[in-house]
Amino acid sequence: MPFSLGPRAISAGYRLAAFESIGSTNAEAMSRARGGERGPMWFVTSEQTAGRGRRNRAWIAPRGNLASSILEVIDVSPSVAATLGFAAGIALETALRRVSQKASPGSAGTEHMQFSLKWPNDVLAGRQKLAGILLEAEALADNRLAVVVGIGTNVVAAPEGTPTPATSLAALGVDVGAEELFSALSDSWAEFRGVWDAGRGFGDIRRLWLERAAGLGLPVAVHTGASTVEGIFDTIDEAGCMVVRTADGRRVPISAGDVYFGAAASAGAA
Ligand code: BTN
Repeated sequence: MPFSLGPRAISAGYRLAAFESIGSTNAEAMSRARGGERGPMWFVTSEQTAGRGRRNRAWIAPRGNLASSILEVIDVSPSVAATLGFAAGIALETALRRVSQKASPGSAGTEHMQFSLKWPNDVLAGRQKLAGILLEAEALADNRLAVVVGIGTNVVAAPEGTPTPATSLAALGVDVGAEELFSALSDSWAEFRGVWDAGRGFGDIRRLWLERAAGLGLPVAVHTGASTVEGIFDTIDEAGCMVVRTADGRRVPISAGDVYFGAAASAGAA
């Protein structure tokens, strides 16, 4: 089955470039933007050989997994563009829920079928990472911003030995292919990109994100690179920063870091 856009994505004017195999859909999307492509356009493959993850990590996507990137060229500041990642998390959670319910209606609502969003923008199934999102932005000559939102989902396989244990749809018993998930994702992206509305709708996106948040109100440790902040995950603020309430009563906003919940948080996320 070839990759195709969903009906909502098509009527919203999205276009699609699908690849049998490619190094990185994010790299391809940004290179097209540098060459004059103005989107909105999806780049998708089920085999990515040089995938990029957050914080300069590699993202392994063997054949059968879904690697997809959306290019949007928009007239917003980089800090507003960064909040688009939260819309992406909601879009992906929505698509995963829709296709899983369709694939195995009997098990919808059982514990392993619950998806949640881990700040800044991972999707978890239970406590395991199912998908990750990498947002990259670059200013263009006309002063607009090329924003590439890369979404990687473990459909058939998950990496082993990762800091947060990973899982795949196949391991969860959800019999869905990358193509079907992509079509649902392209539609839910069009929906929540519309809600985000160049950042004007971030209040609604923030509320929807918090409804799906993993670990809200629980102990957390966040490695920022320079330090580790420990406390209770309070909320995300109007800029999308994670707000951690520390033992001495401060509310510390964090703009980037690796998040550890539960035992890993209480142990200082060693
Ligand atoms: C993370 O580290 O959790 C983010 C992973 C993002 C991976 C996706 S796969 C599609 C797109 N192309 C890339 O090279 N990376 C992103």
